[in-house]
Amino acid sequence: MKSPLSPKHYLSEEIFALEQKNIFQKLWIFAGIKPALAAHNAFMTREIGGVPVLLQNCSGKIRAFENLCPHRLMPVQTEEFGQAPMRCVYHGWTFNPDGTVRTIPTEKTLYNYDAETRQSMCMKQFAVRELGNMIFVCLDKHPLPFDDQFTPEFQEKVAEASMFFGPHAIHSSRFLDFNWKLMYENVVDYNHIPFVHPRSLFPAFPGGLREVECKLTPVPYGPESVELRDLSFTRNIELNVIPYHWMKQALKHYGKTNRYYNFYIYPNVNFTCVTGFTFPIHQYHPVSAQTTQIRVTVPSVAVNDDYVQKHAASLRPLVLYEYRVMDEDFDALESIQKSLRLDAPPVEHGHYEAPLVSMAHVYKSLLNGESANEKPSRQRKSFW
Ligand code: FES
Ligand SMILES: [Fe+2]
Repeated sequence: MKSPLSPKHYLSEEIFALEQKNIFQKLWIFAGIKPALAAHNAFMTREIGGVPVLLQNCSGKIRAFENLCPHRLMPVQTEEFGQAPMRCVYHGWTFNPDGTVRTIPTEKTLYNYDAETRQSMCMKQFAVRELGNMIFVCLDKHPLPFDDQFTPEFQEKVAEASMFFGPHAIHSSRFLDFNWKLMYENVVDYNHIPFVHPRSLFPAFPGGLREVECKLTPVPYGPESVELRDLSFTRNIELNVIPYHWMKQALKHYGKTNRYYNFYIYPNVNFTCVTGFTFPIHQYHPVSAQTTQIRVTVPSVAVNDDYVQKHAASLRPLVLYEYRVMDEDFDALESIQKSLRLDAPPVEHGHYEAPLVSMAHVYKSLLNGESANEKPSRQRKSFW
C-alpha cells in the first residue's frame, strides 16, 4: 500500500511551517521532567513549535511562559537550565508568578508609563499539565482536552512509570540531518532492528525477530478507525539483560527487571524504561524540514541515599549504549533524508507497516487543521 505521505512532507519548509502551527502549537507537547524543576525558581528554557518557552517553578507551582520580556523582547531567562527569579537581564524588570510586571528599576524617572500600559505588559502564559513527573505544555489559547490526545489508560501508565524517577538526570542534545517524522516511523518499525542493530540491540531480544514482531507491533488498526489518541501507545518486550545484584537490592524499580518498556508520546517523544531501573526519554524536536534536534534526558531512579552516587555513575554506560543504538538509527535516517527528492517515487508499505499508514492519515488531518478525534470512541484493548 502506498504511503499517504509524499517526499514533500519530509522536505518542504512550507509543510514544516504548517506542522509548527497546526501540530506543535496545537497539541500537548512534552516539555521536561519535574525533578529538574523541583526547587523554587528552578527554570528551564526551550523552544516548542518555534516559540521560546520558559518553564519556571513559582513557589512550588510549575508555570510556562513565552520567554520574552514585554519591554524589548529579551528572553527573561537566558540559560537552558538554572535557578533564578524571573528578572530580565537587559534592564532588570522583574515579574510576578502570573507573568505581570512586578518591578521596573527607575520606573518613575525613566519610563513614565500610563496605568493602562503598565498593567497590560505581561509575559504570555501557556497551559501546563503534569503527568506523574512528566510536564506537558500546550501553546494553544484553547488547549485541546488532554483526554483527546492521550487515553486515560495511557496517561495512567506514563504517570506510574515516571513516578520512579529519582532526583538526578543526564540531559544532552544533538542536531541531525533528517525530518523528525522519520524517527517516529523508525520507532514503530520493529523490522529494522535485526538489520540496523544486529550486534547492539537485536541480541538483547531472546526470542529473535518473531518475538520482536509479536510483542512490538503497535495497535493493528486501519485508516478508518484511527484517532489521534491511537498514536500514543505502550508496549513491552522481554530483554536478555540481567541487572546488577546491587541495583536490585538498593534501587526501586518499575515493572519487571527483565523487560524493555516503551511509551510513545505523540507527536515526538519516545519514553522508555530499560529493566525497570533507567528511563531514557528521547524527544525528536523539529528544527526545520530537514533538521531534528534529538534531546535525550535520562533520569535516575528513586534510590536509598547511600546509593545515589553509585547509581548516577551507572547511568554513564547506559547513556553510551543508548547513543550507540541511536547512532545506528541516525545513520540510516540521514541516508534516507539525503537521498529524498521531491519527485522520488512513493513509499510502498507492506502489511506490517499498516500502522504507519494510519499514522500518516491522522498526521495529515492535523496538518490540515482538522480534528483527528471526530470518530466515536471505541472499546480499547490493553496490550500489556
Ligand atoms: S528588555 Fe527586558 S527589561 Fe528591557
Ligand atoms: Fe532502531
